[in-house]
Amino acid sequence: MREDPFSFDIQGPNYIPSEYDNHIQRKLSSMKGQYLNQVAYNDMLYQDDVLLYQVFELKRQEVEGELLHGISIVHPGKVGDEYFMTKGHYHTVLETAEIYFILNGQGYIVMETPEGDSAVEELTKGKVLYVPPRWAHRSVNIDSEEDLVMFFVYPGNAGHDYGTIETQGFKKLVMEIDGKPEIIDNPRWTSPEGK
Ligand code: F6R
Ligand code: ZN
Repeated sequence: MREDPFSFDIQGPNYIPSEYDNHIQRKLSSMKGQYLNQVAYNDMLYQDDVLLYQVFELKRQEVEGELLHGISIVHPGKVGDEYFMTKGHYHTVLETAEIYFILNGQGYIVMETPEGDSAVEELTKGKVLYVPPRWAHRSVNIDSEEDLVMFFVYPGNAGHDYGTIETQGFKKLVMEIDGKPEIIDNPRWTSPEGK
């Protein structure tokens, strides 16, 4: 890991950083229970364990004061009528924020707090999105052809809590209804605090 200042490039059309240390590939099989239409999920998985999204990370020490950063690329597609999306998570250290800069594509970021507050922001190329401390976050690609590409940066000590979202899901879902993206209430959502 480099201790001196450094720079790197992120260029289209593929937006893969010119330097990275980790390449994470998340496939359909890692999203069990997350999509509303479980029949569509199982049918699709039976055909092929498709690649939903990729993350390219630059390694930094996971300590306060460091900034973890990299690129996430959510590919276009749907499971049933629900768009390809990231798993989503809380930061283990809840009081840590995150910034996204959207480099390509269009979509939504779905967010919520442990208290059950919910927010959805539209993502378009060139937009900066600030996720405040305490807000779980998931990105969703609504384009039928383009990758949703985002640069992210967050504190080194944040950590990831995937378990809460795996158990509860998000309060809001982004589905295609009559050919358009719609934000709907997740019928299977239960509040983390049982509210
Ligand atoms: C890091 C962060 C993003 C995500 C990436 C993939 O805290 O929010 O870099 O890691 O968008 O999403 P997950 O981690 O939910 O699979
Ligand atoms: Zn995060």
